[in-house]
Amino acid sequence: MITNFKKEDVITLAIETSCDETAASVLKNGREILSNIINSQIEQHKKFGGVVPEVASRRHIENINNVIEEALKEAGVAFADLTHVGVTYGPGLVGALLVGLSAAKAIAFAREIPLNGVNHIEGHIYANFIEYKQLEPPFISLIVSGGHTHLVYMEDHGRFEILGKTRDDAAGEAFDKVARALGLGYPGGPQIDRIAKEGNSDAIVFPKAYLEEGSYDFSFSGLKSAVLNYLNSRKMKGLNISVEDVAAGFQRAIVEILTEKTVKCALEKGVDRVVLAGGVAANSSLRSHLKSECEKNGIDLKYPPLHLCTDNAAMIGCLAYYNYMRGLRSALDLNAISNLKIGDYH
Ligand code: KG4
Ligand code: ZN
Repeated sequence: MITNFKKEDVITLAIETSCDETAASVLKNGREILSNIINSQIEQHKKFGGVVPEVASRRHIENINNVIEEALKEAGVAFADLTHVGVTYGPGLVGALLVGLSAAKAIAFAREIPLNGVNHIEGHIYANFIEYKQLEPPFISLIVSGGHTHLVYMEDHGRFEILGKTRDDAAGEAFDKVARALGLGYPGGPQIDRIAKEGNSDAIVFPKAYLEEGSYDFSFSGLKSAVLNYLNSRKMKGLNISVEDVAAGFQRAIVEILTEKTVKCALEKGVDRVVLAGGVAANSSLRSHLKSECEKNGIDLKYPPLHLCTDNAAMIGCLAYYNYMRGLRSALDLNAISNLKIGDYH
């Protein structure tokens, strides 16, 4: 294969299999995507109303080689061109993680190139580095996904301080559970986003949990229960339910609490930049509400383009590149860690 890379170019192959997306991406010098292949299993999990771990692992095994081959082909890159391999090793479903990790280790071993295992939640932040070529830390990041909700101060690459996190459901999980109760199907976030546009967000006021004074933690289980109780009581009384209004009221409550805490946190910490990340960062109401509140307070807000909000391997590759450049290397006996914490490194 004839390649046009310079000798000093760092070519990253990245692999992501932490949940229900089998994904591989090739990047040049960390921030330039050469290919970004995502094979989603959503259709296979839909009938169960959520991700079935055993099904996810099996599908990853079936897909992984094709996805990697396609990523290399689309990028015009041969195995011999690769500088290193980046891969998610946690957090996530352990059986799913192991599929991507084993593939990455095999390539690193066979090609005798470095392996960089990375943290999936940190990876979500890096979707922003791909989109905004000049972006650098420090900033506050709100990471909202199906499994996690974190407010983090990212001081530099590899330096994270967790300021707040959810005490129960993740934001995306709350979206998915409420959508399920409304009969909207899986994944629920995009459905609620869509249907809420037709509803009146003033019609039903759901409670927002602020927790103790000064806390940047979140709690969404009370909000979720309030929605479920509302639906049950209406059903028992034989009253009509406006799915649109419930979706709009729920979304408003969750978006407002996420926005209020994030802006307060940035102001109190004296940080003038906020970076939004994770699957829920695709929510149109969160993007616009957080943007206008940030603008009012002189805070610069960045969020990724829609295709880099939900799980993908490009964001994993960008983080792996920065870890590689910092001299980090993972051993070939690296294991999958389902509950890997932000800032932990193995
Ligand atoms: O980051 P992600 O792809 O996977 C995890 O790492 O968890 O996030 C998936 C989550 C799901 O809960 C999904 O419902 C939610 O992101 N999501 C959304 C939207 N698009 C995806 N939530 C609200 N509004 C959306 N437009
Ligand atoms: Zn994710």
